[in-house]
Amino acid sequence: MAAIRLCDVQVVLVVLLSLAEAMILEKPQYNYYKYHPMSEISEWMEQLAKDNADIVTLMEYGKTYELRTISMLKIGVETGKKKKAIWMDCGIHAREWIAPAFCQYFVNQILQTYNTDPKMGEMLRNLDFYVTPVLNMDGYIYSWENNSTRLWRKNRSPAPAGCNCTGTDLNRNFNANWGTIGVSSDCCTEIFGGRARESELETHAVTYFVGSRKEDFLCFLTIHSYGQLLLLPYGHPNFTAPNYKELMEVGVAAANAIFKVHGKIYQVGTSPDILYANSGSSRDWARLQGIPFSYTFELRDEGEHGFELPEDQIQPTCEEAYSGALHIITYVHNKVFNGGVASTIPTLWTVLVLAGFTSIM
Ligand code: ARG
Ligand code: ZN
Repeated sequence: MAAIRLCDVQVVLVVLLSLAEAMILEKPQYNYYKYHPMSEISEWMEQLAKDNADIVTLMEYGKTYELRTISMLKIGVETGKKKKAIWMDCGIHAREWIAPAFCQYFVNQILQTYNTDPKMGEMLRNLDFYVTPVLNMDGYIYSWENNSTRLWRKNRSPAPAGCNCTGTDLNRNFNANWGTIGVSSDCCTEIFGGRARESELETHAVTYFVGSRKEDFLCFLTIHSYGQLLLLPYGHPNFTAPNYKELMEVGVAAANAIFKVHGKIYQVGTSPDILYANSGSSRDWARLQGIPFSYTFELRDEGEHGFELPEDQIQPTCEEAYSGALHIITYVHNKVFNGGVASTIPTLWTVLVLAGFTSIM
C-alpha cells in the first residue's frame, strides 16, 4: 500500500511539474512588427528551426569580417527528389532595418500557411527557400550601437592600404561589371566597391553557396529599402537582360499585387532607368550566373522617413511586399513545374459548365 501511495504522489508531482513547466515555457509570441537586434534575430532563427524541424533547417554558410557566422533558414519539404530553389537575402545594407524585418515576416508567413494553403504546400514540395535574414551582420550590429551609427550602410572591414575609412559596400562588391559605374574607389564613400571584386567575406559567402548550385536557383530576391521599387538587371545601362521583357511583365504584375494590399505604388524597371546606374550588385551577379529571375526590392518608404521607417509601418510594408514576392515566386514555380499553363487549362468540370451540361448533372 505504501508503495502505491508513493506512486500516486509521484504521479501528482509529475503532473504538477509538467503543468508548471508548460506555463513557464509558454514562450511569448515573437513580435514581427518590431525591429530586433542581431542577438534576438539569431535566437529566433534557432528557435524557429527547432520548432519546425520537419521543414526548416538552420544552415551556416559563411563568416563576416568580424568572424560572425552567417546563417540562413532553408525551408522546404524533404521529398528525396532534387528540388529547385529560391534565394532571398535581407540586410546586405546595415541601416535598412525593414529588410531583416521582412525576411522574418516572410518565413513566418510561409510556415503559417503551408498546412492550409495547398499552393504553398505544392511549392514547398517542389522548391527549397533559402532565406538569410541578415547578411551584413557586422554592419547591422553597428547600426544598432547608437544614434551616430544608425545610418551605417557598409560592412565593417578595414580600409585598404592608403585609405583611412572602414567598410565596403557589399552591393558594389560582386563580380558583375565590378568597379565600372555607380561605385567609388574611395574607401571613405558609402559606395566603396572594395579593394577587389568579391574581396569581402560576406560577398564570398553568397557567391560560393549560390554559385556552387546555380542551376538549382530559379529566383534571386535581395531585399533593401527604401524607394518602393522593384529593380531588375542590369545596373549597367549598356547591358540588357536576355529576358528583360518577361522580367518587366512579372515585375509589373508583382507591383500590381503590392498595390492591391495597401495602395502603395512600386515602380518597376532597371536600376539606371528608375534609380541610378550601379555595378557590382548581387542582383546583377545572380542574373549573370544564369539565374533567370533576379530582383532587388526597395521597400517603403519614398523618403519621408527613409531608412528609419517607423515601426508602425512594418506590418503593412511586410504584407504588401509578401504579396509581391509571392507573385514572383508563384510565377516562377508554375513556369517550371506546371509548364506555366496549368492554371489556364480548363478542368473537365468548367468545360462541362461552359458547354451548358450542368442541367443534366
Ligand atoms: N537600398 C538602396 C541602395 O541599395 C538605397 C536606396 C535609397 N535611396 C533612394 N533614393 N531611394 O543603394
Ligand atoms: Zn540597400
